[in-house]
Amino acid sequence: MPIRTTATYIDIPYKAELQNSAATNSPNAGVFNYRPRRSLWRIWMRLSRYQRYLLLLIMIIIIALIYNLFGASSVVVSRSSGKAYDSYRRIEDRIERPDSYIKKAPRVEAAADIPPGSDLLVDESSLENKRLSAIRSACVHAWRGYKEFAWGHDHLLPISKKFDDWFGLGLTILDAIDTLFIMGLMDEYGEARNFVVEDLSFDKNRDVNFFETSIRVLGGLLGAHTVTKDKLFLEKARDIGNRLLPAFNSRSNIPFSDVNIGTGSAHGPNWAQDSTVSEVSSVQLEFRTLSRLTGDSIFEEKAFNVSKHLHHLPKENHLVPMFISTDTGRFGNDQTITLGARADSYYEYLLKQWIQTGKKIDFLKEDYLKAIQSVRDHLTRRSSPNGLLFVGELKNRRFSPKMDHLVCYLPGTLTLGHFEGGFPKWHLDMAIELIRTCVSMYSTTQTGLSPEIAHFNLAKNGEDDIIVKSNDAHNLLRPETVESLWYLHYFTRNETYRDWAWDIFQAFEEYAKIPSGGYTSIGNVLNKHFTRPRDKMESFFLGETLKYWYLIFASREIQDKFSPRAYIYNTEAHLLPIFNDA
Ligand SMILES: *[C@@H]1O[C@H](CO)[C@@H](O)[C@H](O)[C@H]1NC(C)=O
Ligand SMILES: *[C@@H]1O[C@H](CO)[C@@H](O)[C@H](O)[C@H]1NC(C)=O
Repeated sequence: MPIRTTATYIDIPYKAELQNSAATNSPNAGVFNYRPRRSLWRIWMRLSRYQRYLLLLIMIIIIALIYNLFGASSVVVSRSSGKAYDSYRRIEDRIERPDSYIKKAPRVEAAADIPPGSDLLVDESSLENKRLSAIRSACVHAWRGYKEFAWGHDHLLPISKKFDDWFGLGLTILDAIDTLFIMGLMDEYGEARNFVVEDLSFDKNRDVNFFETSIRVLGGLLGAHTVTKDKLFLEKARDIGNRLLPAFNSRSNIPFSDVNIGTGSAHGPNWAQDSTVSEVSSVQLEFRTLSRLTGDSIFEEKAFNVSKHLHHLPKENHLVPMFISTDTGRFGNDQTITLGARADSYYEYLLKQWIQTGKKIDFLKEDYLKAIQSVRDHLTRRSSPNGLLFVGELKNRRFSPKMDHLVCYLPGTLTLGHFEGGFPKWHLDMAIELIRTCVSMYSTTQTGLSPEIAHFNLAKNGEDDIIVKSNDAHNLLRPETVESLWYLHYFTRNETYRDWAWDIFQAFEEYAKIPSGGYTSIGNVLNKHFTRPRDKMESFFLGETLKYWYLIFASREIQDKFSPRAYIYNTEAHLLPIFNDA
């Protein structure tokens, strides 16, 4: 999974909260020592008549509020929802679709010609099957929460039982379709398909992020078509594909970051005219698939022209910076080289595009191999005292021992390159070392969950290999480590990777699961008593994280059926076909 711009997540000042947490953890904290000294009745008798009236009134109001919140009235909940920064979009949505937010998912029978994705629970008692059904239950739990409180909207806010709209396209549903199908959850799959048939409309005056919509919406629909062969999904994919095309109408044909899917006007983000390198270089699998399946070559041509253009740009040690100008088509002046946010999936799509086109387009392979060699030579170090291999960043050519959790996709990509591309053994060795580091980012915290960003200790005298700054201590239910464990387990058959995936799953069960439905991202992985839940379930939790877990524990038969040998996974974990010609 590539960049999720941190700008979307407004961090609350944490200082006051840290103090609170210190207070609650202290055995002397006042709250724990409080004992009621007087009976309620005596308190009541001491109140004046007005105080009693006031108290009664307050109680009635509280009861009414509770009734509204937990009772039948989902409308009230929806109306009061929303963070300031996108509430206006929600209002716009209600005007467009007055009843969409109260409508519950209608049920349909799954189409008869759909083969069940998994009939694999042969031996119910085996360890793998216990784990497998736990993961499937987790997916149902996530789906139910979304269905109950956020149906048709982009994201579930599981704690407040509300929803959040980013583009207003039902992102969680579109991301989940192929996952539900692969898990054999046919009722849920039917609900999702029915949403696409009845309620999904792209005909709205709305700015969307070009890249995120390409990988989640276009990618999700194409993934659904790939595993089900249902033409319906392809028709919808073509619709959104056409609406995304105007993004390429810049002076340089490098796509703008934002495009209005109703009016077709495209532009850069408010804060700059540049696009993000990983964004413009990680839509090619999707656009190529759309062209090959519809016979309309325009999508592939426009997107692949960007890859060719990037190939010819001068780079430093074959690595790319974070920004590219849509005006000049040149890289920006920023001096950060990273395998994390804003560059990550550029490297991933070099390899995956090469595989998707039958390993015939040499420049993709060569750029990938040179880049990986350069990552090894310039970006990797070992931490002290335990010598964990990690991938750092270069800032103005100076090494910074900072690694985003996003970088943890790399072991998976290296593994795929070794086994499917025949690349040297050291690629696999590096993957094996890096996955140990990524898993350590989880096991080092109290919750067993990884922070968003880790720093590594290079000083000889430090005690801990991994240092987490409090601003980086959040976890957004991201998939990358589980993704890499899937590739490593699939290709090496080493059971250790399954066990590690299970440990991570259990940590999410313990600290991210919300009883009324759904899972939440959390603000602080460092303190298990004070996780600061963020009240949001990202759509990629269903699209990616749950899918990878499921595949890791699935039977060999199911694994082979959906394997990275049979399909190429886009950067949102949607399965796309491999075409054996360039
Ligand atoms: C792709 O680039 C080639 C060469 O620059 C150009 O001739 C062609 O028109 C471009 N294709 C599209 C669809 O823009
Ligand atoms: C399995 O993987 C673990 C972790 O990478 C490693 O320590 C172990 O040696 C591997 N086992 C085999 C049989 O290769």
